[in-house]
Amino acid sequence: MIRRVVWIGGCTRRYTTTTTATTGSAAKKETPLTPTQFESIQEMLRVDQAGELAADAIYRGQLFALKETSPMKPLIQHMWDQEKHHRVILDTLCANNRVRPSVLSPVWYGMGFALGAGTALLGEKAAMMCTEVVEEVIGVHYNDQIRELVKIPDNESAQTLAQVIKVLRDEELEHRTHALQHDAKQAPLYDPLSFIIRTGCQGAIWVASRF
Ligand SMILES: [Fe+2]
Ligand SMILES: [Fe+2]
Repeated sequence: MIRRVVWIGGCTRRYTTTTTATTGSAAKKETPLTPTQFESIQEMLRVDQAGELAADAIYRGQLFALKETSPMKPLIQHMWDQEKHHRVILDTLCANNRVRPSVLSPVWYGMGFALGAGTALLGEKAAMMCTEVVEEVIGVHYNDQIRELVKIPDNESAQTLAQVIKVLRDEELEHRTHALQHDAKQAPLYDPLSFIIRTGCQGAIWVASRF
C-alpha cells in the first residue's frame, strides 16, 4: 500500500521540497530539486495521470462490451478496481503539486474507452491482448521514470515518488501476466493489432507528457 504522500515544490516554483508521512509525522526539509528536475517530475506526473485515466477507461470499456456471462469479467473488474486506485493516487499527486492535467484528457479517456470496448467486441482473447500490450508499454514507461528518479538520491520526495511508481509498475505487470495467462497471444490478428496498440500507446505517452 502507498503510505506516503509526495509533495514536490508546488506553485511557488521555489523548488523546495518536503515529504509528508500520512501517519502525521512532521514534514522534513530536504535537498532542493534543480529547475530541470522539477520540470521533469511535473512532466512525469502529468503523463502518468493521463495514462491512469486512460487505463480506467480501457477496463470500463472492456466490461461494457463483454457479454454479461463472460468468465473474464471478475478478473477485468479486479484490474479495473486497481486502475481506479492508481488514478486516485495520480490525481492526488497532481493536485498536491499543482500539476496541470493534460489538455487532451477527454481525448485520452475517449480513446481508452474505445480501445477497451473495441477489443472486447472482438472477443475475450482480444481484450486480453489489449491488456497485455498496454501494460507492457506502461511497465517500460514506469521503469524509465524509476531510473530517472533514482538518479536524484538525495531528494526524499523523488525517492518516495520512485517507490510509489514501483508499486504501480508491479501492478501493471501483474495485469500483463494475467492477460498472458488468459490467452492474449491467441487473439485474432495478434500481430497487426498489437503493433497498432503498442505504437499508439507509445505515441500517446509522448504527446501527454507535453500537452
Ligand atoms: Fe495503472
Ligand atoms: Fe494496469
